[in-house]
Amino acid sequence: MKRALVTGITGQDGSYLAELLLAKGYAVHGLVRRTSTPNLERIQGILSRVTLHPGDLLDGGSLAAVLGKVRPHEVYNLAAQSFVPASFSQPLFTGDVTALGAARLLEAIRQRDPGIRFYQASSSEMFGKIRETPQRETTPFHPRSPYGVAKVYGHWIAVNYRESYGLFACSGILFNHESPRRGLEFVTRKITDGVARIRLGLARTLELGNLDAQRDWGFAGDYVEAIWRMLQQKEPRDFVIATGQSHSVREFVEKAFAHVGLDWRKHVVVSKRFFRPAEVDYLVGDAAKARRLLKWKPRVEFEDLVRMMVDADLARLGGKRIERARRA
Ligand code: NAP
Ligand code: GDD
Repeated sequence: MKRALVTGITGQDGSYLAELLLAKGYAVHGLVRRTSTPNLERIQGILSRVTLHPGDLLDGGSLAAVLGKVRPHEVYNLAAQSFVPASFSQPLFTGDVTALGAARLLEAIRQRDPGIRFYQASSSEMFGKIRETPQRETTPFHPRSPYGVAKVYGHWIAVNYRESYGLFACSGILFNHESPRRGLEFVTRKITDGVARIRLGLARTLELGNLDAQRDWGFAGDYVEAIWRMLQQKEPRDFVIATGQSHSVREFVEKAFAHVGLDWRKHVVVSKRFFRPAEVDYLVGDAAKARRLLKWKPRVEFEDLVRMMVDADLARLGGKRIERARRA
């Protein structure tokens, strides 16, 4: 039985990837950092089938210890400080976790068992101020946030360990991918949560930042399939994973409000508070290499993604409201 170790298993992608690996018959192990309140919500349904190990990307010793205990065939490094605005307020912490964390894990792998296959969660944020359209594996990077800069380091350290030590290290350059499990502070989920609250009479307005930004949004469930496929190839390579379609935040807003029969203009308030010191205006990816070599393509379209997320938030918040009324 193959053993996989997933860092960031409590996050959006970690939860989908763990489910996929279980379905493929893996023994799934997850690295979890200590928190004062439980944060296992996304993996609640599979808790009895995964093994969790305490550890932190900030603590190299804990990584070596977990590798020694699990002896994984594959390591998926999904853990990161992944929220762009937080990287502006905490640039050094972001660099420590998101950049040096990848190096700590690679170094532990090199010392313990260089035969382990390694996946690094790289990001379209690395393209930042874009040099060409669409962005592909060969497009030069120009990151626009401390997060993007940290991810560039993570990408190159994975490539460097492949080239220097022959590690089977792959970097997946994933464009934005969303789901009902997306963190509430990211724009898509903030919108669908806000729409559901307004529809249910729990809120009147939704405060957002730059509505003109454009992103290539896919579904997280589709993207973890690509991640797994990268580690099943004969050769370690880097891949762009994207839908090839870009939409503005405004379009996402329009579609989400329209889905519940509301006019977004009556509810959305634009606030400077949510603008960033430097913005990534436009991203759209070319996943031709993944289509060709991984035989991968996205299944969920933009409109379906918006509807899926609004419906999930309506069900969640509607259920809570009924529960509150029942208790009152
Ligand atoms: P996410 O929901 O924010 O999950 C991040 C995970 O990292 C959480 O499990 C978090 O644990 C863990 N983590 C944070 N700091 C850690 C530390 N010091 N030690 C150990 N674990 C730590 O992110 P996601 O959306 O699933 O994304 C997964 C990865 O892909 C991230 O590296 C992200 O930067 C990258 N990525 C995401 C996208 C996207 O659109 N979603 C696109 C490109 C790349 P807690 O639960 O304890 O916070
Ligand atoms: N979060 C947020 N909140 N973003 C807003 C808001 C708001 O109220 N209003 C407008 N936006 C705009 C942001 O300025 C940005 O241009 C866009 O919406 C998307 O923001 P996020 O959803 O926070 O995602 P991101 O693109 O910055 O980063 C995500 O995708 C990257 C891949 O390109 C994260 O998941 C990163 O971890 C990931 O690497």
